[in-house]
Amino acid sequence: MAEFFRITGGRRLSGRAEMPAAKNAVLPILAACLLTDDAVALDNCPLLEDIENMRRILEKLGCRTERAGRRLTVRAAGAASHEMPDALSKTLRSSIFMMGPLLGRFRRATVTYPGGCEIGLRPIDLHLKGLRALGVDIREAHGRIECDGSHMRAADVLLDFPSVGATENIMMAAVLTPGETVIRNAAREPEIADLQGFVNAMGGRVSGAGSGIIRVRGVDSLHGAAYRPIPDRITAGTLLCAAAVTGGEIALSGACGDCMDAVLVKLREAGCAVEESEAGVSLSSPGHLKPVDVFTQPYPGFPTDMQAQMMALCCLANGTSILVENVFENRFNHAAQLVRMGADITIHHRTAVVRGGRLTGARVQAKDLRAGAALVLAALAADGVTEVEQVHLIDRGYEKLEETLTALGASARRLN
Ligand code: UD1
Repeated sequence: MAEFFRITGGRRLSGRAEMPAAKNAVLPILAACLLTDDAVALDNCPLLEDIENMRRILEKLGCRTERAGRRLTVRAAGAASHEMPDALSKTLRSSIFMMGPLLGRFRRATVTYPGGCEIGLRPIDLHLKGLRALGVDIREAHGRIECDGSHMRAADVLLDFPSVGATENIMMAAVLTPGETVIRNAAREPEIADLQGFVNAMGGRVSGAGSGIIRVRGVDSLHGAAYRPIPDRITAGTLLCAAAVTGGEIALSGACGDCMDAVLVKLREAGCAVEESEAGVSLSSPGHLKPVDVFTQPYPGFPTDMQAQMMALCCLANGTSILVENVFENRFNHAAQLVRMGADITIHHRTAVVRGGRLTGARVQAKDLRAGAALVLAALAADGVTEVEQVHLIDRGYEKLEETLTALGASARRLN
């Protein structure tokens, strides 16, 4: 039966939360596990739908995987297939990350067009263009993509846009390809630097991730490793917003302040006191928030994955905010639902004008992962009871969000 959240608004959040590993770091790292026969152990991996689906894909390809709490172990020695399972691939966008590692390992890959959140067209042309530059012969027919990498070679690849997934895919395809591959205009997200850290822990020779130019020197083979992926900066940002909209106080142990500067700047502009230390990030909210303008961009700009949550905050601020979505062309799924809660939002193309005020509880639907998170934030601060439907989309990226919020003092329950 479909689950929903019932949230009674108006409780001030206060307390401490531990940060899990970043979903968007764990997913490409899991894909990269295909590049070695040895066992790989990954720590602090949250139990999320997307991560479990990636694990199922690895199993279908012949890998052995195991979860013990938040520790994931992958052994790809038995991997025998270069064909991605159709149904599972359609459950998550990151299934496309398997192309690079499959090509690295088998010099062949058969994949289907990936699924994922409905937040725009999300083409994969940059992935394909980059792989073609590496000498991969790619044929597309009937929704399937056949890749022949028997003539792969190092290359100089210029990305027309710094796509996160394309950067990661090309990096993974090049790791076991002789010679030096250079990726220019690479995405600079912290999760890409983390993928470099993981590949190098397995004996790879990648440098420059985090800057716009990545160099991958091909090696003959990789070995096993134990690795702890970086903390989730989007989960951290979402919880900071939860404290901000409820006039609360929160300390996030293990959060990386440097990785989320753009979000912290906006929370400070909204009037919150934010402190960063070695131990994590903490926030204290004055209760009355100021409006903020947000302009999403590739890292280090403001992350598109925090735009929805920031819109919820703006709905509660004292004044008018402007949010411009530059990364995805259709990422205002949450706006119509926020309006059901009494928000005053006008949208023109990629720009949303939000006039802040009060929100009231209503029955609303999470249309995608971060849109769902935005509704939960709105519900925490709204008058009365809100029911958020389609919780399975929120579960793709947040581990038992209702329990985390309840531990911080919220009234949030998961019901059937
Ligand atoms: C990753 C993140 C996602 C985040 C996004 C942008 C993971 C698992 N997901 O997604 O949470 O919202 O980065 O920070 O890490 N594009 C093309 N052609 C391509 C590839 C992308 O036109 O071949 C476009 C997309 O449609 C989009 C933009 O480039 O408009 C950014 O996409 P990209 O950086 O590739 O995002 P993902 O890797 O899909």
